[in-house]
Amino acid sequence: YCVGIIGAPFSKGQRRDGVQRGPDLIRAAGLVQKLKGQGCIVKDYGNLTFEDIPDDEPVGRVKMPRAVGRANELLAGAVHKVKSDGNTCVMLGGDHSLAIGSISGHAASRNELSVIWVDAHADINTPLTTPTGNIHGQPLSYLIHELHSKIPILPNFSWIKPCIAAKDIVYIGLRDVDPEEHYIMQYLGIKTFSMTDVDRLGIAKVMEQTCEHMFSKVKKPIHLSFDIDALDPSVSPATGTPVAGGLTYREGIYITEHTCQTGLLSAVDMVEVNPKQGRTEDEINSTVTAAVDLLLACFGRVREGSHKPDYKIP
Ligand code: ARG
Ligand code: MN
Ligand code: MN
Ligand code: MN
Repeated sequence: YCVGIIGAPFSKGQRRDGVQRGPDLIRAAGLVQKLKGQGCIVKDYGNLTFEDIPDDEPVGRVKMPRAVGRANELLAGAVHKVKSDGNTCVMLGGDHSLAIGSISGHAASRNELSVIWVDAHADINTPLTTPTGNIHGQPLSYLIHELHSKIPILPNFSWIKPCIAAKDIVYIGLRDVDPEEHYIMQYLGIKTFSMTDVDRLGIAKVMEQTCEHMFSKVKKPIHLSFDIDALDPSVSPATGTPVAGGLTYREGIYITEHTCQTGLLSAVDMVEVNPKQGRTEDEINSTVTAAVDLLLACFGRVREGSHKPDYKIP
């Protein structure tokens, strides 16, 4: 695999400080060396630098729209570049508002995408339904064609063009969905696997049905958007909005291994790792290690082990 890594140290899609340190922590845990060790060709594009935007007053309920809009415009360009260079793109967040830029930039290079959204939350509130005003709870609403007419004009958002269809989204891990979001998902007929579905079916059936749904017509490149809060807080406690009853480490790894095996994985987001939300060093390490292991499984690491094709017993 050829992997291009972009760091997006950005936190203004929500109000907790610390999530901007995600990219450097994930790198410090050895992501690049480990990917190379399993045979990947890796290019680290470094971290983006986001300009400071003063007087970023709320517009309606939406908080810090100017900063989020501008940061994502920059990110979209960077992702487009990584894809043009022929890499699978890894975007290290930062908060989940960054999916706006990551998916936009990916779509700009590939027309049609399938999106697997692994998260405790649906992140599909519109500027009018958001209970918090935080844009990390809204990214999908700006990206879905069918919601375009529901999105009011926001400063620094005019570059965004809806680029995904509701039928091309699959959610896995949901367990904290706002009533308005639940209505929107049902109204648009989006495929969802909540934690109840994971309990009922098991993760193997969930992934089988995820692929069945995505591949029912043509095979589109996959954008995997992985919010670390999808995992159970016992595994990844260092995150801004933890929710009890999440995916196990093994279920997370199964999702990423299986997505890798489709051969269609084209971009990955790893977001919402926030060291300041960890109470101990162990809690931070456990969260960062999980993020790294999920990414390794996205790029060929399998638990049964592997060897080079020309290996001989010495
Ligand atoms: N649904 C809530 C909101 O709209 C929580 C969203 C949490 N999102 C996240 N990316 N952690 O604000
Ligand atoms: Mn292009
Ligand atoms: Mn979440
Ligand atoms: Mn999220």
